[in-house]
Amino acid sequence: MKILAIESSCDETAVAIVEDGRKILTDCIASQVPLHREYGGVVPEIASRKHIEAISGLAEQALVNTGLIRQDIDAVAVTYAPGLIGAVLVGVNFAKAAALALKKPLIPVHHIRGHIAANYLAFPELEPPFLCLIVSGGHTMIVDVKNYTEMEILGTTLDDAAGECFDKVARVLGMPYPGGAALDKAAARGDEKKYTLPRPKPGENPYDLSFSGLKTAALNLIHHAEQVGETLDVDSLCAGFSAAVSDMLVPRVELALQATGRKKVAIAGGVAANSRIRRDVTAMAERLGVEVFIPPLSLCGDNGAMIGAQGYYEFLAGHTAGMELNAYATKSILGESL
Ligand code: KG4
Ligand code: ZN
Repeated sequence: MKILAIESSCDETAVAIVEDGRKILTDCIASQVPLHREYGGVVPEIASRKHIEAISGLAEQALVNTGLIRQDIDAVAVTYAPGLIGAVLVGVNFAKAAALALKKPLIPVHHIRGHIAANYLAFPELEPPFLCLIVSGGHTMIVDVKNYTEMEILGTTLDDAAGECFDKVARVLGMPYPGGAALDKAAARGDEKKYTLPRPKPGENPYDLSFSGLKTAALNLIHHAEQVGETLDVDSLCAGFSAAVSDMLVPRVELALQATGRKKVAIAGGVAANSRIRRDVTAMAERLGVEVFIPPLSLCGDNGAMIGAQGYYEFLAGHTAGMELNAYATKSILGESL
């Protein structure tokens, strides 16, 4: 089954064609990152306008890349939530028009479920159940993936997402948006023990997370150094910050693996590109004798293929939508009725 998949929830316009949920036939992405960089973050209005300009051309490109014709497409999948509402609407409207014109099913896909499904593309042998650590620009959670479309949230951030914190600290250090990758690079050159940063433990749920205290501590450290005229060792601060984020995430995943008895663990989302987190999750899984799935960097950030992968399993579960499908800025990953 060949699915045309559309993703436009933030600052990447993406169109992919995916076969049977596992094989990427093409994965076209038009990134707006350089445009938003001069503002230090995503400007929603600009994002929507750029999606409108790019989306049709990308869909044509996807067909050209694969040598397929429109009639070869069996269904259209689209990110319908969560994201910047104006941006998500562009993709949803395009997908509705495409499904209507092609007379094919329309499949709504939750963006975070898509991130999880990126693992199905990278690892053809991976099947649920497994635990997944999702770390992206807007979301941080530990999810028990019971089957392809049934999930349980074990823990979640009570305030900021991990990616937001990486970006905020990187921005104050003068790194270009989105700063997570640049901060990661700088961290490789630093001494993580030079600056001591907190690892807060929030609430009663042992799997919940909180990043605002760590973010504030890092920002205070930077501002204090500025005020007293001290030269900051930026690389070491980045190393200490990455270590603190990973130290908050990975032991909670370990706890969740022990409590659930799951034998497989995966990571997903833009921040899953972080080298410290990748290293720590791998070491933890090896220690526990649990199979570990770390997707390649190309599948960690937003892309269309992951929406096509999850779309296939949503379709098999009967989760299609009619022309009344709407877009949502927020929506639970648990998949309550549309
Ligand atoms: O999943 P994603 O592409 O978009 C959302 O759905 O939010 O995640 C983007 C986030 C940004 O905050 C970006 O800075 C972060 O992923 N990121 C990283 C790294 N690469 C991307 N954060 C830490 N280390 C990295 N290597
Ligand atoms: Zn994302």
